Amino acid sequence: MSTNVEQIKERLNIVDVISSYLKIEKAGINYKARCPFHNEKTPSFFISPQRQSFYCFGCGEKGDIFSFVEKFENVDFKEAMKILAERAGIELKGFRKEENKDEKEELLKVMEVATKFYEEALVENKNALQYLKNRGLLPDSISKWRIGFAKEGWRNLYDFLTEKGFSQKTMLEAGLLKKTEGKMGSEDERYYDTFRNRIMFPIFDNNGKVIAFSGRAMREDEKNPKYLNSPETKLFYKSETLYGFHIAKNYIRKNDYTVLVEGQMDLLMSHQVGTLNTVASSGTALTELHLKKLQKLSNRIIIAYDSDEAGESAARRAAELALSLGMEVKTTFLPKNEDPDSIIRKNPSEWKEILKNSEYFLDALLSKALQKYKDRALTKEITNNILPLVSLIKNEIEKSHFIKKIALKMRVTEDTILKQLEKIKTDTARVNSNEENQNQKDQKEELLFEIERYGLKIDVEQENAEILKRDEIKELKKKHQEIAITLDDKDITQEDRKNLENDLKNIEKRLKEINN
Ligand code: UTP
Ligand code: MN
Repeated sequence: MSTNVEQIKERLNIVDVISSYLKIEKAGINYKARCPFHNEKTPSFFISPQRQSFYCFGCGEKGDIFSFVEKFENVDFKEAMKILAERAGIELKGFRKEENKDEKEELLKVMEVATKFYEEALVENKNALQYLKNRGLLPDSISKWRIGFAKEGWRNLYDFLTEKGFSQKTMLEAGLLKKTEGKMGSEDERYYDTFRNRIMFPIFDNNGKVIAFSGRAMREDEKNPKYLNSPETKLFYKSETLYGFHIAKNYIRKNDYTVLVEGQMDLLMSHQVGTLNTVASSGTALTELHLKKLQKLSNRIIIAYDSDEAGESAARRAAELALSLGMEVKTTFLPKNEDPDSIIRKNPSEWKEILKNSEYFLDALLSKALQKYKDRALTKEITNNILPLVSLIKNEIEKSHFIKKIALKMRVTEDTILKQLEKIKTDTARVNSNEENQNQKDQKEELLFEIERYGLKIDVEQENAEILKRDEIKELKKKHQEIAITLDDKDITQEDRKNLENDLKNIEKRLKEINN
C-alpha cells in the first residue's frame, strides 16, 4: 500500500495544481509563470511536468506540489496535505476526522449569512453610508472588505437567523447573540443581538472566511465602547488572528516586509491607497503567534502604530517581541496624535513618504533619547530602556552595529556596553528560568494589557484559565496527529507501534478530561 503522499502525487499533476493558482504559459516542454514568491515583471518561475517540480530562477524557490501549497497558502505540511488530498479525492490515512468539524462548518455558515445581512443593511442606511464616505472609504473598499451595518434594535439579526433555521445555540457560540442573566421576561426575550447600531467590519481567517466581527459605534458614549469585538469562539482565536491577513499575506511575501497598524480604519485606508502588505492587530495585544505567522512570509516588519502614548508603548512591546524572534524591526514617525488613517485621508502620498522614511526601531529610540536627555539622564535612559532591546537582537552583526553606535554616543568603550549587556542577560535568564511559568505570565500580561488599553471588563483569572486549557488542547492535538502520521508508516517496529498506540490512548484520555 502506498503512503498518503505517494497516493496524492499519483493523482495530481503539478501543472494542474499550480495553474489553479497562477496564470501559466507553455515554454518548451515546461511551463512558466510570474513567480508568486517574489516580485517580478517577466516570468522566471518554471514548472517541469516531467520532474513534477517547480523552480524559480529569480528567487531560488523550488519544490513539489506540497511545498508549493505550503508556501502559497501559508500553511504547514499537514495542512497542505489535507488541501491536496481533498483535491485528489483521497481519504487520508492516519488522520482522524477533525473533531467538531460539523459544528465549525455550521458556525462558518452562520457568520456568512450574518455578513450578508449586515452588508445589505448598510446599502439601505444612508447615515451609515454617509459616515463611511466621510471617513474616506470608497465603495470598492466597502465591498472588498464586506463592511456592513447592524441596525438599532435588540433582535434584528436574531429574528433573521431564526427564520433561516439557525439555532440559538449556534448564534450564541458564534458570538452573535447574548443572553441576559436576569430572570426578567420570557425565555425568548432574554436573547439579544451582540451588535447594535454599529458599522460592522468582518474579520476573516487566513482563507477569507468570516470568523468574527468588529463593530464600530455610530454613537459613542460611556456605556458603549468605540469598537466592540466578537468574543473568542471556536472559530476566532484572537492570539492568532490579524485583520487583513488573508489579503496581505501574498503581498507581504512579494514585498518582503509587513506594515503593521493598529486599527481597522488604518488598515482599510492603507490598502485603499495600495499598501497591500498591511495587517492590523486591531484591538488585541500582539502575540508571538501573530508575529511568527508574519515571519513565515517575511522577516521584516514596519510598526506603524498611533503616535499617542498608548500607541508608543504598544509599539515598544511589539518591537520587543519581534526582535526576540530575530526579526528586522522598523518604525514610522507619525506626526503627534495622528494615525495612518488620518494621515492617508489628508494626503495619501504622505503615508508613502512616512513608510519610506521608517527607521530601525532602535535607531529611532536612540535618536529620541539623544534629543530628550543629556549626561546622566541619558545614561540612565540608555541603560534602562535601550540596552534591554539591544540584548534581544539575534543577528550578531546588527547587534554589534548598535553597540558601536551607543558606545560612541555615550562616550564609553564598547567593552562597557558589553558588560552591561552581560548583566541584562543574566537578569533575564533568572526571570526566564521557568519558561512555562513565564509563558503563562506573558499571556496574562497580554490580557491585562488589553484591559488597560481599551478599558475592557474581563475576568482575568477565568480568561487565563481558558487560554491555558486551549494551549494544552492544541499541544495534545498536535502530538496526536504527529503520532497518527508516524503510525501510518509501515516500516515501524511492532514494539514502537505498541508504544505509540499507548501514547495515543493517553492523549485521548487527557483530552476527554480537559473537555469535561
Ligand atoms: P483607536 O482608539 O486608535 O481607534 O484603537 P481608531 O482605529 O483610531 O478608531 P477610529 O478611527 O476612531 O474609528 C485602535 C484599534 O483598537 C481597537 C480597534 O480595533 C481599533 O481600530 N479597539 C479600540 C478596540 O478593540 N476597542 C475599543 O474600544 C477601541
Ligand atoms: Mn487610531
